[in-house]
Order: sequence, then structure tokens, then C-alpha cells
Amino acid sequence: MHLPAILICTAALLLPHTVSTSVLRSLDNAPVLHFTLARRGGKFSPTEHELDYVNMTYLSQELEKTESRFNLTQREVMGNKLVRKAKSNGSGGDEKGLTMGDAATDGIWYAKINIGDPPQEIEMDLNMLFPDFYVITTTSRKGSKYDDYFSKSIQKSLDRPYPTCFLPSELFHLPTVNTSLRLPFALCRPSKFGLHTLGASGSTLGLAPSEHLSRTGSSFLKLLLDREVVKRPVFSLMLINGQEGVLSIGGTAAHAIDMVMSQTETELDRLGGKEIVEKPKVESEKILPPLAKRGRTGKGIVSRQTNWEEGFAWSGVQGADGWWQLLMRGVWVDGSRVLRNQAVVIDINSPFILAPPLATKAFYASVSGSRPLPPPVSNFYVFPCLNPPKLHFEFGGNMFPFMQGGRGAEWSGIPGGKFSLGRLEAGSGYCVGAVVETRMGIKEERDEVVQNGRKGSRWIGGRGGLGGNGMRDVWVIGEGFFRGVGGVFDFKEHRVGFRAY
Ligand SMILES: *[C@@H]1O[C@H](CO)[C@@H](O)[C@H](O)[C@H]1NC(C)=O
Ligand SMILES: *[C@@H]1O[C@H](CO)[C@@H](O)[C@H](O)[C@H]1NC(C)=O
Ligand SMILES: *[C@@H]1O[C@H](CO)[C@@H](O)[C@H](O)[C@H]1NC(C)=O
Ligand SMILES: *[C@@H]1O[C@H](CO)[C@@H](O)[C@H](O)[C@H]1NC(C)=O
Repeated sequence: MHLPAILICTAALLLPHTVSTSVLRSLDNAPVLHFTLARRGGKFSPTEHELDYVNMTYLSQELEKTESRFNLTQREVMGNKLVRKAKSNGSGGDEKGLTMGDAATDGIWYAKINIGDPPQEIEMDLNMLFPDFYVITTTSRKGSKYDDYFSKSIQKSLDRPYPTCFLPSELFHLPTVNTSLRLPFALCRPSKFGLHTLGASGSTLGLAPSEHLSRTGSSFLKLLLDREVVKRPVFSLMLINGQEGVLSIGGTAAHAIDMVMSQTETELDRLGGKEIVEKPKVESEKILPPLAKRGRTGKGIVSRQTNWEEGFAWSGVQGADGWWQLLMRGVWVDGSRVLRNQAVVIDINSPFILAPPLATKAFYASVSGSRPLPPPVSNFYVFPCLNPPKLHFEFGGNMFPFMQGGRGAEWSGIPGGKFSLGRLEAGSGYCVGAVVETRMGIKEERDEVVQNGRKGSRWIGGRGGLGGNGMRDVWVIGEGFFRGVGGVFDFKEHRVGFRAY
């Protein structure tokens, strides 16, 4: 891989005066904004401190939390299309139409942005299942708070995209390109009498490819496109480890990551624009020497510039309009394809790979020595720690190693290897697998049956029915897949590309 060197050279050739920021752009000239990502609460660790076995209570709670995020929308037919719409009494119940769930919860990936004058820093929770950008300001002290009272630059409006939200505009300080821009955004203040006002302040950066779920009518990405801050209707996600990553809007971060990986974590902060380099000349010299050795000729650079898509295996988005749902061509265990053509939804905030019941059975049937745990944790399977399977997920004609290393795979020391969540118990020879059965789709169908018969039946127990989500026979591909694999999400061409790095 000689890309880092090419990146540096290109930057140096094209933009000699602003080397420090320009090296973080993609190879061509289309601008890309890079946001540093972090996972709230640190990396997903189902084992207790210093121990190598899992806490099943914790795992079950995390599973429930993950599934509940798929519970805020339902499918409806619009014209001749199946689309996702917010459930009218979706999440909170007390605040009608608030589809958003809570802000600033643990285990969610977020980026930071400064808004207002003077700037106030807020944390934007990534949400791949919802399209809107909104800021929630509560009366509690928790979370990262934006208060319009302290901003000189807010311009109010009387539009109300949600019952508890206005649509003012404010100065956004964008990283990487280092500019400020006035953008409208939904500012929500939950009712003082509602439950939500005790929750944390924060914001949500919706990344779902959905028109029908949107209340504000324009996502953050669309606003940046309209203002020509970025040119390509894409964003990309790359994780560097279990708790840090990069969100790039308008392009990919592949090359920036390659470069950053060879540097320290303070350099990563700089990606997000937190810390603007004061002496770019010196900085760039510090960066250049080790990488420049692997440089190429000018010709190579030019031919690369136009080809940002290179190296990505693309799959078309399918299913009900609204989420990043794709067709996974194959699931491979130890070199054989054990499942074909599985529907998957991509959600970076899921710490597991969720698989529907039949697929889970078929999958673990190919993992030698594996078995399901007894109820109430029968969603989880164990396998012999000494004999972990070698897994690949197949997308767009390419095989992607799943949890086998690459960057961000920090599994050293965890028994059972990268596929393992940890030992079942102290000293056990069995490890819990990262592929976990989800029954959301099944429960949903039961719900539909219940709704057609007796309404309000008490059948909906435990993890509850996910009415009309369409998650039957659908996998959820979560964070684990992104260790060592980068994803590009294309709103215009309705496709997702993956690339191992
Ligand atoms: C397991 O996790 C639960 C929920 O996070 C926690 O309350 C409990 O203390 C943990 N158990 C042990 C033994 O650490
Ligand atoms: C899903 O939503 C329904 C109501 O819409 C609720 O009864 C159920 O408990 C929810 N399930 C989860 C897992 O949150
Ligand atoms: C939503 O609210 C309506 C009444 O407001 C109720 O009839 C319906 O059962 C609720 N749906 C769910 C899924 O809770
Ligand atoms: C970023 O922008 C601010 C004000 O617009 C300016 O003062 C500063 O020098 C810029 N920094 C870089 C590295 O371009």
C-alpha cells in the first residue's frame, strides 16, 4: 500500500500553503469533512475489569437496548412503495411524535461540533436509522448542552418540525475545511413536565437514507451539499479501534486514516479540527519523511485523483425505504459458504452481529462444538474457545474477513479470539460468540396477529413486539464488522461500499 505517500505528495503539490489541513482531504479535490468519532463510555467490553469471562446480565441488557432502537419506526405502503415511518407513539409516549429516543446514552458513537458565537461544543450521536439532525436541550445537567441564551448568533424561527422543537439557524464551525456556516437545525426542549427533560442534553446526527422519516426535510448532509461545502452525497465510516474512528462527509477517510494510523492520537484529534496546527510547515515535515520514502511518480498521482471509488465493493440498497439495508451475498465459515443472500441492515451502534433465528441456527451448525445457551439467554451461543471459526461476510462480490484482525481488532488476550465476547464463566472452555440471535422480527409477527385479534393482549412480553419493523429474516451488521473494514454510504446512487484496510 503506497497510498499514504501519494496522499502526502498530492497534498503538497496542490496546496503548498495549507499542507496541514489539505493532507487530510481525499486524493481528488472534492472537499471532505472529517469528524473524529468516539464511543461513549469507551469500548464495548462484556467482561469485567481484569477478568476474561462475560457478564450475561450485561450482554442481555445490551441486546435489549440494541433491539429497541429498531422499534421506533414501522413500515407503511406509500403509493407503490414500502417506506419507513415514525410510529406515532414511538419512543417516549409522553411526547407524541418524538421518534428520537434518548440523547447521549452509553455505547453510542458520536462526533463533536461547535455551534454558535461564542462556540458551544455539542456531541452528535450518530443514528443510522433516522435522517434528521436535531439538538436536545433539557433542564438536567447531563450530556453536552447547547443553550441559545448564550449565543449571539442564533436566529430564531417559529417553524416547528416536531411539537417540542423550533427550527432556528445558527453558526456551525466545520472541521477540516475550517469554515463557519449558518445552517437551520431543530432545537428541541422537551416539556418541563415530561420524562425527557430529565434526560441528557445532546444531539443526533441522522444518517439514514430516508425522506419519509424526516421531519425537518433536510439532513445535515443535504444542507452541506446545498451550500456546496461538500460535493458528493456520501459519508463514510472507519473505526480505528473499539472506541475511536472517523466520520467523513463528502468522501472517504481511507487515505487520511492510513496516514493517521502511523501517527499519534493527538493527530487524530486534529482530524476533527479540535486543534488547529499552528506551524504547518514544521508539522508537515514531521509527517512527511517516513512516508515520503514510499513515494511514487507524478503520473501515478494524477491517475488516482479521479478514482475515489476505487477499492470499494458496492451493494445496492434494498428493502423498505429508510435504512441502509443490503443483500449480503454469503456468510462463510472456515472456507465454506453456509448461507446465501441474507438481508442485512447496517447499524454502527450495534455491538453485536444480530441474525434472525433460522440463520443463527444454520450459522452455528457450521461452527464445530457450538451450542445455544439455555433460556433466558438462549439468544447467545457458545463455541469452544480453542477452536474459533474463521469467518467471512461476502458483499458485492468481495469476501470480508469478519473480526479477524486488521486495524482496530484489539482482541489480544481475549480467549476464543476475535469472534469471542469472552469466556462463558471463569475457567470455562466455552466462549460466547459475537453472532447473536434476534427475535425482533418474530415478535413483530406475533404482534400483528394479536392486533388483528384481541387488542391489547398481554402477549407482548419480555423484549416486546416490534410492530411492523420488517426485521424478520434481517440481520444487523454492527460495529464489529467495521474493525478492519471501512464503509461508504452513497445517498444518490443508493448503494454502500466496503473496503478492507
Ligand atoms: C453484570 O452487569 C450488570 C448490568 O450491567 C451489573 O449490574 C452487575 O453488577 C454485573 N455483575 C457483576 C458480577 O459484575
Ligand atoms: C417496542 O415498541 C412497543 C410499542 O410500540 C413496546 O410495547 C415494546 O416494549 C417495544 N420494545 C422494545 C424492545 O423496546
Ligand atoms: C399508539 O397509540 C394508540 C392510541 O393513541 C394506541 O391505540 C396504539 O395501540 C398505540 N400503539 C402502540 C404500538 O403502542
Ligand atoms: C481557521 O479559521 C480561523 C478564522 O476563520 C482563522 O483565524 C484560522 O487561522 C484558521 N486556521 C487555519 C489553520 O486555517
